[in-house]
Amino acid sequence: MLSKIALVEASLAIGSAVAASVSCTADLPFSCSNTTVVEDLCCFNAPGGDVLLTQFWDTAPSTGPSDSWTVHGLWPDNCDGSYEQYCDQNRQYTNITAILQEKALCTLKTMQTYWKDYMGDDESFWEHEYGKHGTCMNTLNPECYDNYQPTDEVADYFTRAVSLFRTLPTYDWLAAAGIVPSSTQTYTLAAIQNVLTAHHGHNAIIRCSGSTLNELWYHFQVKGSIQSGTFKAVDPVGSGATCPSTGIKYLPKYATPTTTTTTTKSVTSTTTSVPTGTAGALSGKGYVKVLPDGFMISTGNWYRASGTPATYTATPNSDGQAFTLKTSKGPCQLLADASLSCAADLTASNFGYDGTYITYNSAATFYAASTPSGQDKGVVFTTQQAVALQMYWQPL
Ligand SMILES: *[C@@H]1O[C@H](CO)[C@@H](O)[C@H](O)[C@H]1NC(C)=O
Ligand SMILES: *[C@@H]1O[C@H](CO)[C@@H](O)[C@H](O)[C@H]1NC(C)=O
Repeated sequence: MLSKIALVEASLAIGSAVAASVSCTADLPFSCSNTTVVEDLCCFNAPGGDVLLTQFWDTAPSTGPSDSWTVHGLWPDNCDGSYEQYCDQNRQYTNITAILQEKALCTLKTMQTYWKDYMGDDESFWEHEYGKHGTCMNTLNPECYDNYQPTDEVADYFTRAVSLFRTLPTYDWLAAAGIVPSSTQTYTLAAIQNVLTAHHGHNAIIRCSGSTLNELWYHFQVKGSIQSGTFKAVDPVGSGATCPSTGIKYLPKYATPTTTTTTTKSVTSTTTSVPTGTAGALSGKGYVKVLPDGFMISTGNWYRASGTPATYTATPNSDGQAFTLKTSKGPCQLLADASLSCAADLTASNFGYDGTYITYNSAATFYAASTPSGQDKGVVFTTQQAVALQMYWQPL
């Protein structure tokens, strides 16, 4: 059966042909391993020939699926490990999502799951990665395209980053060797490095915040262009490793928060202004807004297209600690399958408020199977799914 979404994607894919970049001959050396000057800089990465695909393991706050690392970026380091940045002021695009919607919808969808900003603002994270690093990849320069139209190269940058990321399933590699997220177990640097080297073929740079594992840098050399060349794993150049040799923590994502309220608050306040108040019961009428974006509609679903949020009514319980929610559709309930719904025949569930977010059973993180797009109404769950979200109250 062909789903509506599949049809839309197929027609977009056909309608969104991106200008072709110049084709490259096969007899070029890999970047950073040429012995003579290579003239054609549309087919050879220089000076940024040491290309890194970097990944995050974010737990404070958590981002992305709990069983996958996420993308940080695709970076062109120089052959000695130094690097250039912000190479073209005219290509610091501020509409990456819109560009990819037109030119690389599948890539965008993958990014919405696997390329996550810890502050919930994926668009500005992607703008930063492209503006700082993507503009320094010389084979993506406008002159390397036939009939170049502005932003043609953006799809190539993100599509390459995503396809390279797909070849580096860090979580699965580590898990297969018994290195799994744990709040109690610790691991040695050698154990982690051995697993990564066995799969990648070369060492990766392993990075920690204190003793908590949070980032990996995989290095490559490229024969041909970023957009269509062949990538070969290589040993890291330069330094960057920051983990201790023993006692490395690989923390689970979305662990039940114990003292994370402060972290979450300080993080979100830099992007969206989330009203805060006293923990306890909410009361009166308000909008239920969603982080990373969007709002809740009257059915109890998450909606991200433009429009007016539904008015929710919060009614405190007699103990003043919990409250119920209802909309024009009826009371809001967490159903047996852990999904949230508001409808006339339902029995209102009890919710809490931690001073910033709406909680259920003391947890402020809710989930959806994917980020709803277009007119989709995302079903919100309390059990773990691919996408995490939080809900906050905007009093009316
Ligand atoms: C490799 O090619 C680049 C680009 O032309 C050039 O700058 C660099 O000097 C070359 N390296 C060697 C060892 O010739
Ligand atoms: C994105 O911004 C660029 C530069 O401002 C512009 O040329 C391009 O048309 C925009 N693309 C979309 C899809 O909005």
